[in-house]
Amino acid sequence: MTDSVIVTDEGAVRIIRMNRPEKKNALTQPMYAAMTQALNEAQGSDKIRCVVFAGVPGAFCAGSDIGDFLKRAEGELTPITIDFLGALARNQKPVVAAVGGLAVGIGTTMLFHCDHVVAASDATFSTPFLKLALIPEAASSLLAPMRMGHARAFSMLVMGRPLSAAEAKEAGIVNTVVEPAEVDAVALKAAREIAALAPGAVALSRKLLRGELDAILQRIDIEAELFKERLKSDEARAAFEAFLSRKK
Ligand code: COA
Repeated sequence: MTDSVIVTDEGAVRIIRMNRPEKKNALTQPMYAAMTQALNEAQGSDKIRCVVFAGVPGAFCAGSDIGDFLKRAEGELTPITIDFLGALARNQKPVVAAVGGLAVGIGTTMLFHCDHVVAASDATFSTPFLKLALIPEAASSLLAPMRMGHARAFSMLVMGRPLSAAEAKEAGIVNTVVEPAEVDAVALKAAREIAALAPGAVALSRKLLRGELDAILQRIDIEAELFKERLKSDEARAAFEAFLSRKK
């Protein structure tokens, strides 16, 4: 098990903290595995009533590890990212996100599966899939237009234009913008508030609000197939190599 994801339970709230600060919380396969396990365990637990995703100061998550993308392109790695996406979509517990600093790629698209998002004023939300010659994932091609309309979804998912915390709030991805030092505490307070509600009624309401699970799972699969093909393309490999060999 990796120490780059720290799972703690505070009463009825499970906190899943990405903790790879030296790489801005870029997600490795062991990190995906740890987050999948933490989410799946929460499903079977009567004690856990809400889950919080959190990061480290300045970095919620810099997206999937680009070194892993290259390994996948070269057939050296069978990813388990898809298990995480399935667990996230099937998860029945309310999810709160505490987003400070960078939220890149899946760091942003996972928020479409969250129920309440607290952002630090320094948070930026970006999905530079196309810069890497990739396509959107995590059912974001379905959920982002639903959440913020086609024009804003296209600007973010296809053109790769980032959103500030204030813009993300305006677009309907974020509930509250707070000072960076307060983001975890405010998110935890919201999680406790949700956890104090009648769990059966919360579960039913959440299910009604989230819409068709089958459509979400189907879109995850369709995107994953196309994503796999894109990873192997010459243009994607060149982009990964350029990132990994860039000079700062
Ligand atoms: N995969 C692998 N390594 C990553 C990474 C990623 N997604 N994101 C950041 N890192 C690494 C950097 O290579 C660097 O490693 P090094 O110190 O060994 O050189 C370290 O994390 C710190 O990143 P750095 O680029 O120095 O920080 P920054 O604040 O200047 O920029 C980002 C942060 C996130 C804007 C920049 O690192 C970036 O663009 N990362 C790629 C994001 C991405 O495209 N993700 C996939 C989306 S599909």
